[in-house]
Amino acid sequence: MSKNGSISASVIKRLPRYYRFLGELSKQGVDRISSRELSQRIKLTASQIRQDLNCFGGFGQQGYGYHVDELRAEIGKILGVDKQFRTILIGAGNLGRAIATHINFDTRGCELIGIFDSNEQLTGKTVGNLKIMNIKTLENFCRENHPIVAVLCIPKAATQQIADTLVGMGLKAFWNFSHYDLSIGYDDIIVENVHLGDSLLTLTYGVNVLTSDDDDREQEAEE
Ligand code: NAI
Repeated sequence: MSKNGSISASVIKRLPRYYRFLGELSKQGVDRISSRELSQRIKLTASQIRQDLNCFGGFGQQGYGYHVDELRAEIGKILGVDKQFRTILIGAGNLGRAIATHINFDTRGCELIGIFDSNEQLTGKTVGNLKIMNIKTLENFCRENHPIVAVLCIPKAATQQIADTLVGMGLKAFWNFSHYDLSIGYDDIIVENVHLGDSLLTLTYGVNVLTSDDDDREQEAEE
């Protein structure tokens, strides 16, 4: 783990993408692939791929390329998908229910074991194969079940307090969807802030560049 702990964040960010593409190749019955072919599919340069994978000791063989299933299994181990980190979800509103039902936690190293909400009317309602529990039972549940990952789908205003409670209960990682950046103040805690809106802004940036090129061309044509 210490070895992988020193890998740059940008390399780590690309690993899920490799893992996903290799899974697709495996489903298509592809046994092995060169870094050049992988680069065409994954839209990264072959040298970038070689460099990334060399960070972990290099999995390819000269003239052979990569063995798809072996490489996927190795990357899976690095990502921890072979583990089952006990996970809870806080906030069973629209987003929380969608995540609980549409994300396949157990193929991504996490086991969803509890869903909590402060709205008493939701207590006992079923989401997937779990019943929503009242947030008042959270601490007891944590003492008995020792979750280490929490998915936060609660409003911004509630996030810090819930996160503090959970850190106090021994949780180590937050997949944070609330519009509140949680990184501040937690050195030894893993936080992955997710903002779908940021992804949309990346898209609008691209569209903006594309259409301003068109605008420029139209303007040039008019002149
Ligand atoms: P929602 O209102 O449907 O659900 C929020 C749920 O959290 C409610 O069921 C509410 O009872 C519960 N809740 C509030 N305070 C709580 C507390 N202290 N403890 C436990 N449960 C509590 O809202 P929705 O649409 O599910 O969104 C949830 C949050 O995620 C919102 O703050 C929204 O802004 C944010 N969001 C973030 C996105 C992202 O890309 N990061 C995308 C969409 C929404």
